[in-house]
Amino acid sequence: MPKDSINPTKTYSWKKLQNHFNDIKEIPINNFFASDHNRAKKLSISLKNFFFDFSKHNINEETISLFVDLLNEIDLKKSIKSYFAGDKINLSENRAVLHTALRTKKKEIIVDGNNVVSDIKKVENQINSLTKKIINGSYRGFRGDKITDIVNIGIGGSDLGPAMVIDSLKHYRNHLNFHFINNVDGDYLHGILENIRPETTMFVIVSKSFNTVETLTNATTIRNWFLQFTSNENISKHFIGSTSNVKKAKDFGLSDEKIFPFWDWVGGRFSLWSSAGISINIAIGPENYQNLLDGANYMDEHFKNEDFSKNIPVIAACLTMWYNNFFDYRSHAVIPYSEYLKNFPRFLQQLSMESNGKQTDKSGKFLNYSTAPIIWGDTGTNAQHSFFQLLHQGKKVVPIDFIGFKESKKGDKKHQDILIANMFAQSKALMTGNINESKNNHKSFSGNRPSTTILIDNLNPFTLGSLISIYENKIFTLGVIWNILSFDQFGVELGKKVYSEIMKNIESGRIDDNDSSTILLLKKYLS
Ligand code: F6P
Repeated sequence: MPKDSINPTKTYSWKKLQNHFNDIKEIPINNFFASDHNRAKKLSISLKNFFFDFSKHNINEETISLFVDLLNEIDLKKSIKSYFAGDKINLSENRAVLHTALRTKKKEIIVDGNNVVSDIKKVENQINSLTKKIINGSYRGFRGDKITDIVNIGIGGSDLGPAMVIDSLKHYRNHLNFHFINNVDGDYLHGILENIRPETTMFVIVSKSFNTVETLTNATTIRNWFLQFTSNENISKHFIGSTSNVKKAKDFGLSDEKIFPFWDWVGGRFSLWSSAGISINIAIGPENYQNLLDGANYMDEHFKNEDFSKNIPVIAACLTMWYNNFFDYRSHAVIPYSEYLKNFPRFLQQLSMESNGKQTDKSGKFLNYSTAPIIWGDTGTNAQHSFFQLLHQGKKVVPIDFIGFKESKKGDKKHQDILIANMFAQSKALMTGNINESKNNHKSFSGNRPSTTILIDNLNPFTLGSLISIYENKIFTLGVIWNILSFDQFGVELGKKVYSEIMKNIESGRIDDNDSSTILLLKKYLS
């Protein structure tokens, strides 16, 4: 059993939290405000271009101090230190977890006797130099044309991060068109191919393992399509790879100088900062990409150095633990008030649920307490006209993160005022309700529904980097609290194994070795 394996629910601080929970669980958030006029000031954090308001929660100052006691008892400080130092904290795979090194300002981080920072810089320079040529048009396709389109081929972390960032930073993009092929859905893939020209398109294959069925199938179909127009030697001109499996990338036909390494200490869902983010780099240029990294580094430093009671990722993690393990709320919604962040909840789903959707502790013992909540969400105000009914009046309480920006990109103040007024109104209405006002039960709102508001100056590469880092570090902190291994994902393996058996059934037509439902489904499909 790892030395630092601590069941949080057995700690003294957890018991104190349990008693405190029993004392305050019935107190509506409204009452906390009524009894303390400085509450919003006390329960909020201002940091550079971020304002993090966590006052609309079922907590008081004592709750925060009990959170801090717990974090001290489980020695979160020590875990943070080992995480940033490159210790092999991914115990099940015996790997370091160093996506933070990809944005560090430090000159040296040693893993297995090797300075990973110099490796990172080397690859970064190679990527930047290719990126610049593609953007300025000096890089030419096999018929001598400038590149107009980029197709990112990857799935999971090799797609969600790049797609989310490229969408979010629309206002920082250059003239190039981007397409994302993630699913193995052939209709979708062929739909994209119909609209691009091989001679003006770069294909970026992102796959840490270079072994993922969807990505390899898509890349192979695209390569075959490409070869209808030109010969083999032009593959290396139009296909780039980001992978830790250089051999397989070469077998596919990629040339050495177009394969950008992806180290085993970068988890797929944390990889947008690595060569897996090459499409981002091409979309917004190396300078903006550097700002994205700097923003993440800024928030990493805050996470590493700030006291827990004023530490944004730490407080965010404790609130999730509070609702998940004490109130027994099962899900968590993320509602950005920017249409450009529409993919942010999807990105967070993988980040959080693939990391912390675990049933065993660090030593492999089954847990008897709950881990990651279900993450979901959509943009406001759209979501207000859809599922907010449940958030206001449903029988389930869902803690929410509201994310909004003070300034708009195009300066239309009227629209921004309406957008942000809606965000503030929702968090207020969810908390206050109208229980004493309405005589009609259908129209009554119980209120007391908690939310955090993250108000950011404006949406740019730096602040987006910081925002992502908040969630990455929150997820790390929750993994430490829950005493689980956040950086493996064995939960995806069984489905992959059963898929290959079913695929054999489909190819051979021999389907009998299945349950009757699966047999019938196969019969229907094959008939
Ligand atoms: O199947 C899950 C997963 O391994 C994710 O963790 C990962 O982001 C995704 O598949 C893609 O993997 P790869 O980059 O190796 O193709």
